[in-house]
Amino acid sequence: MSQTWNPDVYLRYESYRSRPALDLITQIPLEVAGPIVDLGCGPGNVTRRLKDQWPDRPVIGVDLSSDMLAKARGEYGNTEIQWQQGDIETWQANERQALIFSNAALHWVTNHVDVVPRLAEMVIPNGWLAFQIPVTEQSAYQVCIRETVQSDRWADQLAHVWMYKDPMGPDAFYDLLSPHSQSVDIWVTDYNHALEGDNPVFDWIVGTGLTPYLSVLSETEKEEFLEDYSARVSCAYPKQANGKTLFFMKRIFVLAQKR
Ligand SMILES: C[S@@+](CC[C@H](N)C(=O)[O-])C[C@H]1O[C@@H](n2cnc3c(N)ncnc32)[C@H](O)[C@@H]1O
Repeated sequence: MSQTWNPDVYLRYESYRSRPALDLITQIPLEVAGPIVDLGCGPGNVTRRLKDQWPDRPVIGVDLSSDMLAKARGEYGNTEIQWQQGDIETWQANERQALIFSNAALHWVTNHVDVVPRLAEMVIPNGWLAFQIPVTEQSAYQVCIRETVQSDRWADQLAHVWMYKDPMGPDAFYDLLSPHSQSVDIWVTDYNHALEGDNPVFDWIVGTGLTPYLSVLSETEKEEFLEDYSARVSCAYPKQANGKTLFFMKRIFVLAQKR
């Protein structure tokens, strides 16, 4: 699937986007020695948090997007953290990892049944696999994406492009990981981000969920598509009494300690 990420657009809501990653990091009692990898590291701000939390360990950030990696290198340098271009779907560690971490990236990879146990296999005994994925198929912003993409104007061009699907549920993740793990902890959190701005959910989604569609449209088509989506998503998220917009996001967290 083609995706063109713009790190500056993505980072517009950095504090809100990082919150689930920080919530996950605080739950990881990492004691076993060894390296850390951040899969789908994006612009590297969360990878930097991993390095701050465990400064003595080698940390690698892996991402498919050269633009995201360039931003990460520019912001955080190349010495303390190594940045690698790679696809989570096929990424293979050179050595087993104490922590394989991924925040808001694994939903871009579809075959979790193969990928998740493969990642668990790359963890050192007593190490951790920790990831967070949004669960948003039914959310208003996804409904608006589907309505736009499937409308008469865009269906021919875009209906075949990737469409977000919810990940498997906690019970299925549990069964997938328990053969590899001494413990599997899974929880779901609802975030209600109080966003400022005229159409802030649009501004948020332009930096993430729309990237597969924007990458296959011409500049003129992009403008038209964004206008269409912007109008729909603005109606779906009315403002609160104080003028802010509540952006509801459900996210699943999975934390497995290797046997
Ligand atoms: C929503 S951003 C999350 C970035 C970062 N983890 C964070 O928490 O801010 C998703 C990132 O996953 C990357 N990505 C998507 N599919 C990927 C794949 N198959 N392999 C590696 N990275 C991928 C994108 O390039 C993007 O940087």
